[in-house]
Amino acid sequence: MRKRLHKWRLISIFAILALALSGCGKPFLSTLTPAGEVAQKQYDLTILSTSIMVLVIIVVTVIFIYVVTRFRRTKKNENKIPKQVEGNHTLEIIWTVIPILLLLVLAVPTVSYTFNLADVGPMKQKDKQGKTKDALVINVRANLYWWEFEYPDEKIITSQDLVVPTDKKVYFNVKSSDVKHSFWIPAVGGKTDTNPEGENQFWLEFDSKSAAKVKNQFYGKCAELCGPSHAYMDFKVRTMSQDDFSAWTKEMQNVKKPVAQGDLAKEGEAIFNKSCIGCHANTPNDSRPEKARTAPNLATFGDRERIAGILQHNEENLKRWLRDPEKVKPGNLMTGKYQKLSESQLDALTAYLMGLKVEQ
Ligand code: CUA
Repeated sequence: MRKRLHKWRLISIFAILALALSGCGKPFLSTLTPAGEVAQKQYDLTILSTSIMVLVIIVVTVIFIYVVTRFRRTKKNENKIPKQVEGNHTLEIIWTVIPILLLLVLAVPTVSYTFNLADVGPMKQKDKQGKTKDALVINVRANLYWWEFEYPDEKIITSQDLVVPTDKKVYFNVKSSDVKHSFWIPAVGGKTDTNPEGENQFWLEFDSKSAAKVKNQFYGKCAELCGPSHAYMDFKVRTMSQDDFSAWTKEMQNVKKPVAQGDLAKEGEAIFNKSCIGCHANTPNDSRPEKARTAPNLATFGDRERIAGILQHNEENLKRWLRDPEKVKPGNLMTGKYQKLSESQLDALTAYLMGLKVEQ
């Protein structure tokens, strides 16, 4: 009795663990709470294929159990030889036709969704100035442990935070500047490889109602094992209405040069201009070419939600990162690129960086 109880306890612990590890809930990060047309279609396909598989398993299991019990050897029929049958046309047709039908039910929506989700026609229609006519296009560039988002028509660049309007198709060009990564916003869609050779294209739509439920912020992930800090290669997605997005675009375009407020921040600015600006830009419309953009653009650093993509956004964590980036994100490319900073230099640089804000 005791042993049995013990066994049940173990099973229930595993059941709870499985539930916890499957990451249920978390609507800003879960494929099970689709927040847009793409995610919804992918979710529907998952449900459809899972239902078909479960149905097949149930039918086969029931028949199997029935046959095993009904025709088992018992004392009564020990010496009885059952009727010998060689083939049955009706049965053979049934078990050939049913799987074909099931495969058709699976294949038709899968193929049609695949073509639909790969339709990036609108992003290729350019006007005379070379701008995309009626579509918002964002170039995504993945780098060892950070993301760059370039809005080519608007001529602005952000890093780590992707800003998008809701309820319309947003088209993405994705690529990588080093190794293979994968761009994925679990609740909205994606999981598209970013390759160093050649671009991939697709679209996503962010549903405003679902976005409101998660305070307009989704989490994005790198979904391709790319190095020691692969698991920390996160980005945030901020959604807003088309009007707010247009306003945000204007604000970004109007940033000229960041102004450091106060003596401490001014001191930090001097350090930034000496040690950081070679890799990090501090305006969203910085004109350096892609090859020279070797580190995240920091123009909106003060508006961000996370430090280095993963730590809570506060001064303490920023200093922690600047003191020893390797401890936070092993294998990152900032380690060893600048001289060790004194505590007072850290204070100054932190004050400067936290003041880099675009939004009013
Ligand atoms: Cu980048 Cu994993």
